[in-house]
Amino acid sequence: MKSSPVNNQDWLVKKIIKMGGTISFYEYMNFVLNDPINGYYGSGKAELGFKGDFITSSSLSDDFACLVGKQVEDWLIQFKSGFLSNKRLAVIEFGAGDGSFMSGLIKYLLGRSENIPAGVSFIIIEPNEGMVKKQKNKLEKFLNLGINILWKSLEEIEENNINGIVIANEVLDALPVERITFLRGKLLRQAVSIDQKSRKLIFDELPLTAELGRSIELAKSKLGIVIPPEDAFEGWTSEWHVDNSAWLKAIYEKINNGILLIIDYGKEAKNYYTSKKSNGMVVSYKNQKMMNNILDFPGNCDLTSHVCIETLINDAETLGFNTVGITKQGEALLALGLAERLYGIQKEFKEDLSNALLRREALLRLVDPVCLGDFKWFVFNKFTEKKININSTCLR
Ligand SMILES: C[S@@+](CC[C@H](N)C(=O)[O-])C[C@H]1O[C@@H](n2cnc3c(N)ncnc32)[C@H](O)[C@@H]1O
Repeated sequence: MKSSPVNNQDWLVKKIIKMGGTISFYEYMNFVLNDPINGYYGSGKAELGFKGDFITSSSLSDDFACLVGKQVEDWLIQFKSGFLSNKRLAVIEFGAGDGSFMSGLIKYLLGRSENIPAGVSFIIIEPNEGMVKKQKNKLEKFLNLGINILWKSLEEIEENNINGIVIANEVLDALPVERITFLRGKLLRQAVSIDQKSRKLIFDELPLTAELGRSIELAKSKLGIVIPPEDAFEGWTSEWHVDNSAWLKAIYEKINNGILLIIDYGKEAKNYYTSKKSNGMVVSYKNQKMMNNILDFPGNCDLTSHVCIETLINDAETLGFNTVGITKQGEALLALGLAERLYGIQKEFKEDLSNALLRREALLRLVDPVCLGDFKWFVFNKFTEKKININSTCLR
C-alpha cells in the first residue's frame, strides 16, 4: 500500500495546484480547518476532550459551563429585573465545538430554576456543518425537553435584535490568520506551496497586500505595535489577525443590548510581537501533543493561534463596544466559586475516590496558570436603549 507523507495530503495538494501552486497562509489555515469535506472542523473530524486531540475548558467536565453559567444567570437576572424585563433574552454561543458548553450551561440553568431556560432562547452560531451534527447529538435530550435551542447563521439574525449574552470560548483562536514574515529587509506574506521533488507542503512567500500594509501601519500609529520589532532577525514571522474586526462588527450590528464574553489564549502585544518570539504563536495539536510542523497532517489536527490583547480591544472599541473588563480565567473562575466546588468534591464522591480525583484534576486544570488558567476573559457590552451598570462577578 502506498502511504503518503504526513504533510502531503492529496486533497490539499490538488487544491493548491488548482489555485496556481501557491496559497497564502490564511487560505491554508482556512482550508485545513473549515473545508467541508476534509477540514478538521468542517468535516466534523475534530475530537475534543481527554480522549481527543486537545482539551477545551468545556470538554474537561461540566464544571466550566456551570461556573460560567453562574455568571450568565446573574447577568440574565440583572437584565430581567432592569430595563430588559419585557424583552425575550437570548444566550448565543459562537463556535460550540462538540456542544459540551451549551449542554453544561443548560443543565446548570435547569438545575437552578426551570423559569430561566424557559424564558430564554439558546442560539448556536456554527459555520461548520460537521460540528453542528455533533452539537445536535449532544443537545438532543434538551431539545426533547422542549428547550428552545436554535442553530442560526449570523445573517439570519436581524440587526439590533439580540438582547442578552454572546459567548465565544476558544473561537477566535480558530479564525484563520495571515502570517507576516521579515525577509531580505522587507515584510512579506507567508504562503504555502508544494515542493516539486517531494510533493510535500512547504512555506513560501507572497508580496504583502496593500490592505495588510495599511493595517500594520495603523497598529503602529494607534497602538505602538512595531512590525517587525526593531531587533528582529532574518526570517522573523508572526500572525496578523485579519478576521477579528469583521467578526466583531458582524456581532456588534446584531446586538441591541447585551454582553459579549470572549475567552481565549491572549498575549499582550509586547510579548507577542517581540524579536524573541521569532515564529509567532500558531501551533497544531494532535493526540494531545503540540506538533512542531504546522504543515503536518493538514485537516487531521487542530491549528490554533493566540489573540493579541491590545488589537482585540482596539478592534472592539473602534466599533463602539464598551470594555467592561479583562481578567485571567483562573481569577474569573475562583471569583465564581471554583474553590467551593473543589471542596464540594470531597462530600459528593465520598465513596468513589477515583472519580473524585478525576474531577479534582479537571477543576485544577481550569485554573492552572500554565494551562487553561492563563486564558483571558474579555467582557464587552453594548447598550443602545439606556446605559446601565451591570455587575460582573467574574471581574471581581
Ligand atoms: C476550539 S473549538 C471551540 C470549542 C467550544 N467553544 C468549547 O468550549 O469547547 C472552535 C469552534 O469554533 C468553530 N468556528 C470556526 N470558525 C468559526 C466562525 N467564524 N464562527 C463561529 N464558529 C467558528 C469551529 O467549528 C469549532 O466548533
